[in-house]
Amino acid sequence: MRVLFVGDVVGRPGRDAVESLLPRLREELDVDACVVNGENVANGVGITPRLADRLLAAGADAITLGNHAWRRDEIGPYLATSTSVVRPANFQADAPGRGLTVVPARDGTRVAVLNLLGSLYLEPAHSMWELVDALVDEALAETPVVVVDVHAEATSEKVALALWLDGRVTAVLGTHTHVQTADARVLPGGTAALTDVGMTGPHDSVIGVEAALAIRRMRTGMPVRFETASAGVRLEGAVVTCDPATGRASAIEPLRVPWP
Ligand SMILES: [Fe+2]
Repeated sequence: MRVLFVGDVVGRPGRDAVESLLPRLREELDVDACVVNGENVANGVGITPRLADRLLAAGADAITLGNHAWRRDEIGPYLATSTSVVRPANFQADAPGRGLTVVPARDGTRVAVLNLLGSLYLEPAHSMWELVDALVDEALAETPVVVVDVHAEATSEKVALALWLDGRVTAVLGTHTHVQTADARVLPGGTAALTDVGMTGPHDSVIGVEAALAIRRMRTGMPVRFETASAGVRLEGAVVTCDPATGRASAIEPLRVPWP
């Protein structure tokens, strides 16, 4: 089976690209299940119930989030009941929502989706290392196909997690930096890994933000209101091929699709 993971969807340009490209890509790439990171879809930071529903309607089977999960108040009650949208599992235990879900693929295979937050700059309530083994066991009790979105700044944390989980999960895919890394590989135990899948949004920018505004803030140290850029839009992500019976991956292909 083939699982498409779509990297951080940024603002309106990212959402337009997903809505226009995803139905065709699902067809062309023979995709059985699709996971989309949606933590930047609401004008660059956070997600709303309406936007989550739109990404699901466009062809996402599950949505993962990250450090901006709570930027929009209205998403809390939505996450409390959603079985399709997960937030990092290592948030406070009393925060609404869940970090692990299981969704059905096109062929009926059950796909577990686990969202974790790295430590560097992101300050999760708990280190992902304290929770990850129990969560992977919980996922494996449901299905051998387990996709992990590790939302983290540091390449080291993401590479270390992929190596730690090799042979236990189908894929460990990094998000958050918005820059696709050139290290897609299947590890010896059969876990596909990519340190960052990249960004679905405007690449003529500073990781999605209008470049002049980001540069002005960096040069002056003064507060500058960020706006999502609009040019150079691409959908980025990866396609993982795996055996649904064992969950082991046989291939991973990075994806960079220009839009329009
Ligand atoms: Fe992020």
